[in-house]
Amino acid sequence: MHLETLAVHAGHAVDEATAAVTPPIHLSTTFSRESDGSYRAGFLYSRYTNPNRASLEQCLAELEGGVAAACFASGSAATMTLLQVVGPGHVIVPDDAYFGTIKLARDVFGPWGLELSLVDMTDPQNVARAMRADTKLVWIETPSNPLLRVVDIQAVAMSLDDLEAELWTLRKAIEKRPPPERPAAERWRSVTRFWRWLTARICRP
Ligand SMILES: Cc1ncc(COP(=O)(O)O)c(C=O)c1O
Repeated sequence: MHLETLAVHAGHAVDEATAAVTPPIHLSTTFSRESDGSYRAGFLYSRYTNPNRASLEQCLAELEGGVAAACFASGSAATMTLLQVVGPGHVIVPDDAYFGTIKLARDVFGPWGLELSLVDMTDPQNVARAMRADTKLVWIETPSNPLLRVVDIQAVAMSLDDLEAELWTLRKAIEKRPPPERPAAERWRSVTRFWRWLTARICRP
């Protein structure tokens, strides 16, 4: 299917209750149980998930050629979640990464055992040199915010492959419009901004 067609159809179908072709906005916070205590459509409480968020997540997953997507209210919430998943260990982050990302990694997760190396990723060898046995994550932002430094993602990944390290490579990219690069293992995207997007990819979990 063409990407344009997918973009129109992914994540929603004609509403069964009303035949509306555009998904209705669901305002309910809670969802009623069946007599056996289950939830008919799997929705229980809108903060966990709700039909509109599920629709958006399914749409993004299909556009990315992935199997699932998770939407967050902000990029920082997504960053926070990812760093929580990483747990104690070592991460490599660009020295000009978004300030909130460095703050989260250093000030919030530092006391929980996360160690941070800040490197200039425009030279992939700097990343390879910063690698440690306990490195769990390499976080790339390209072009970076605010300096718009460009990182050669493939070169960084290759330099790490050379080390045969077992790690996650997280790719974040910001560009003017969102032509999905497919296929993706995992990816971060900002849908709060028209003029740029964030993506991330996790390799070799
Ligand atoms: C590269 C990058 N990462 C993360 C964020 C944080 O996103 P949010 O403001 O949605 O928390 C920003 C915000 O500008 C950003 O530019």
